[in-house]
Amino acid sequence: MSNTPTLTVNPHGSPAVMDSAAPLLELESVTAFYGDLQALFGITLHVKPGEIVTLIGSNGAGKTTLLRVVSGMKNPAAGVLRFSGADVRRVPAHEMVKRGISHVPEGRQVFPFLTVRENLSLGAYIPRARAALKRSLEEQLALFPRLYERMNQLAGTLSGGQRKLLDLVRALMAEPRILLLDEPMAGVSPALRVELLRHILELRDRDRITLLIVEHDLDFVMAASDRVVVMNNGRVIADGTPGQVRSDERVLDAYLGARRAAA
Ligand SMILES: Nc1ncnc2c1ncn2[C@@H]1O[C@H](COP(=O)(O)OP(=O)(O)OP(=O)(O)O)[C@@H](O)[C@H]1O
Ligand SMILES: [Mg+2]
Repeated sequence: MSNTPTLTVNPHGSPAVMDSAAPLLELESVTAFYGDLQALFGITLHVKPGEIVTLIGSNGAGKTTLLRVVSGMKNPAAGVLRFSGADVRRVPAHEMVKRGISHVPEGRQVFPFLTVRENLSLGAYIPRARAALKRSLEEQLALFPRLYERMNQLAGTLSGGQRKLLDLVRALMAEPRILLLDEPMAGVSPALRVELLRHILELRDRDRITLLIVEHDLDFVMAASDRVVVMNNGRVIADGTPGQVRSDERVLDAYLGARRAAA
């Protein structure tokens, strides 16, 4: 926590979010199972266009499962899943990408024996993005100088943080409307964390991309989020601004208890 002092609570939230806007993403009473094991118990969650919503919660809370349901990698057992007003409950993952949902899963996903440029080209595999590949690559290059310097380098030679940047930019090559990031700060150095946070805020403010992010790093969560959703045992137990969630007794008990006891 103390090694990222430049991340501060987001005081204003997104300038792009309108309270009256229809949700871009809607989940109502969504359940999901792995065999007999129920991972999600009636999740209701709305994300508005232009919002950064972060999901926090202890290990096994169901955060990754929720992202997988949203991106079509996992079918919900019951409930409503709508994207941009359309029912997408049975839409497969590759079709979700075409509709504007890009998902960066946990861990490092780069192809180590391909160059940075080749990795980025693979991110633009859908027809709409393929047509715009040259423009997108050039636009992205201008915005991510750390990758530009390494375009012809094998991705396997990048540092952990640089691979995270590559994961992010590759997902952007599909020109998403909503970007799902699973633990983007894991394994990232303090210096690159600040840079990654800046990029994420720019995606919202400049590119009008909506973000749904799972993250354990509370400094990042407090600095980046318009809204924080807290999960525990497959359920949403709190949903509010960073300030509201931080002072919510249920959150403190369920999630921050150990941290609070240690303070
Ligand atoms: N592929 C799988 N097969 C069986 N059970 C799974 C699978 N993936 C997750 N689970 C179980 O589903 C529940 C929710 O897991 P999930 O990975 O969604 O949690 P999480 O909140 O992302 O946790 P973490 O913070 O550790 O990443 C857990 O009980 C987990 O053990
Ligand atoms: Mg997870």
